[in-house]
Amino acid sequence: MALNVVIMAAGKGTRMKSAAPKVLHRIAGRSLLDHVVHAAAALGSSRTVVITGHGAERVEASLAGSTEGKGARFVRQEPQLGTGHAMLQAVPALDDANETTLVLYGDVPLIGTETLRKLVAACAGRQLALLTIELADPSGYGRIVRDGSRVRAIVEHKDATAAQRAIRETYTGIMAGPTALLKRWVMALRNDNAQREYYLTDVVAMAVAEGVPVVAESAASEAEVAGVNSPRQLAELERAYQLALAHALMDAGVRLADPARLDVRGTLTCGSDVEIDVGCIFEGTVHLADGARIGAHCVIRDTRIGEGAQVQPFTHMNQAIVGARAEIGPFARLRPGADLGPEVHIGNFVEVKNSTLAAGAKANHLAYLGDATVGARVNYGAGSITANYDGANKHRTVIGDDVHIGSNCVLVAPLKIGDGATIGGGSTINKDAPAGQLTIARSKQMSFAGWKRPKKTPKTT
Ligand code: UD1
Ligand code: MG
Repeated sequence: MALNVVIMAAGKGTRMKSAAPKVLHRIAGRSLLDHVVHAAAALGSSRTVVITGHGAERVEASLAGSTEGKGARFVRQEPQLGTGHAMLQAVPALDDANETTLVLYGDVPLIGTETLRKLVAACAGRQLALLTIELADPSGYGRIVRDGSRVRAIVEHKDATAAQRAIRETYTGIMAGPTALLKRWVMALRNDNAQREYYLTDVVAMAVAEGVPVVAESAASEAEVAGVNSPRQLAELERAYQLALAHALMDAGVRLADPARLDVRGTLTCGSDVEIDVGCIFEGTVHLADGARIGAHCVIRDTRIGEGAQVQPFTHMNQAIVGARAEIGPFARLRPGADLGPEVHIGNFVEVKNSTLAAGAKANHLAYLGDATVGARVNYGAGSITANYDGANKHRTVIGDDVHIGSNCVLVAPLKIGDGATIGGGSTINKDAPAGQLTIARSKQMSFAGWKRPKKTPKTT
C-alpha cells in the first residue's frame, strides 16, 4: 500500500528501570518495536520511519537484524520535546508520493492490523483519522473533545478543564492523516501548553480550523492500544497476547490443559487432537502433528513432532524431529540435529545431538548419543555414551539395525557396529564390532578362593 508509517520510539521508559531502551523489551520473544514493525509490514507500508532517541544505536541495530525492519529509515530525536517534535523530525523522511501517513507508537505492541486497516481507510488520504478508546479511568490521556458528534480537538489531561477531564473517550496516540497536510501542520506546532511540549495532538484543532474532516475510529480492545511503561504492564500484555493465542489454538481444536499456562514465542501449528499440558514453552517454529501429546513443562523450539507422539513432562527440545508414535521423556533432551524415526523411545536423562535413530530404536535411561547413526530396533543401554569428540574433532558412530548396546558402554568414535551385534555392558569399544557377534572390551572377572580380608592390628600401648 502507498503508505508512510511513522513509529515513535525515542522515549526513555524510565519506569522500566532498565538499562535497555524501552522498545527493546520483549513480548512473546520479540521486541515491542518488532511487533509494531510487523504490524506496519502487514499493512504493506511502503515507507517505515522509526524515530529513535534514547538508546538509538541499539534500537536501530535491532531492526537491522530483522527481515521486516531492515528496510526502515531512522531519524533521531534529541532531545525529546514531545510527540509533535518527534513527528517534525520524521517530516524529511516521509515519501510525498504516499497520500496517507500513519503514526504508531513503538511501545504499543499489540496493535491489530485490522484496526489499522480501518483507520487508514477512514483517512483515505483526505481526512484526519484518530484511533480512540473509551476508558473507565481516562486520567493521564488526551481527551477527545466533540462538538455534537464532530471531533473538535484533543486536549491533554494536564491542560484539560474539569469538564473535559470527565470525558472518557481518549486518544490512543495512533492517527492516520494526509501526508502533505500533516507535514505542514507539524511544522506550525507551538509548545504553549502546561508541559511546554510540542503536541502532535494539536493538529486536530488545525484540521478543524481548515475544514478538514476529523474522524474517530474506535479500537477493538484495550489491549491493542495499551502502552508498556513498566514491567507490570509488560507482563500484563504478555498474558493478553498469550491468551489470545491460546484461544485461537483452542478454537482450532487444540486441547490446552490451561490456556493461562501456555507460552508461544514464535509460531506453533497443530494438527487435530493435539493435547498440551500446563507450563509448556514453544519457541521458533514448532509443528505438532495429529494426536501429539505434550506433557507439562516442556520447552520445545524449532521442532516437528510426528503423529501420535507422546512427550512426557520436563523435556527439552531444540531443532529436533520426532517421528510418529515416538515416546520421549520425562526429562529428555533433544539437541539440534536429533532426528528420531517412528516409535523411537527416548527416556529420562537421555541426551541426543546430531543423531538419527531409525524406527523403534530405544535409549531409555541416562545416555548420550552424539553424532550417531542408529539403526532400527536398536536397544541402547542405560549409562552408555558415544565419545564423539577427541578434543579437536567430532567423529561419527554408526550402529546397525537390531544392535544391543549393554549398560555403561563407551563407544569411542569413529566407530561402526554391525547389524545384530551385541556389546557387553561396561565395554569401552574403540574398534569396529562385527555384525551378529558379542563383543566385550573390559577386564575379565576373577575370583580368589583363598583370599582373606585384612584384620585390624590390636593397639600395643
Ligand atoms: C500521548 C498523547 C495523548 C494520548 C497518549 C496515549 C500527545 C501530546 N499526547 O501522550 O493524547 O492519550 O499519547 O498514550 O501526543 N515519544 C517520542 N518523543 C517524544 C515524546 C514521545 O518518541 O518527544 C514517544 C514515546 O516514546 C511514546 C510515545 O511517543 O512511545 C508517546 O509518548 P508519551 O509521553 O507516552 O505520551 P504522551 O505525550 O503523554
Ligand atoms: Mg509525554
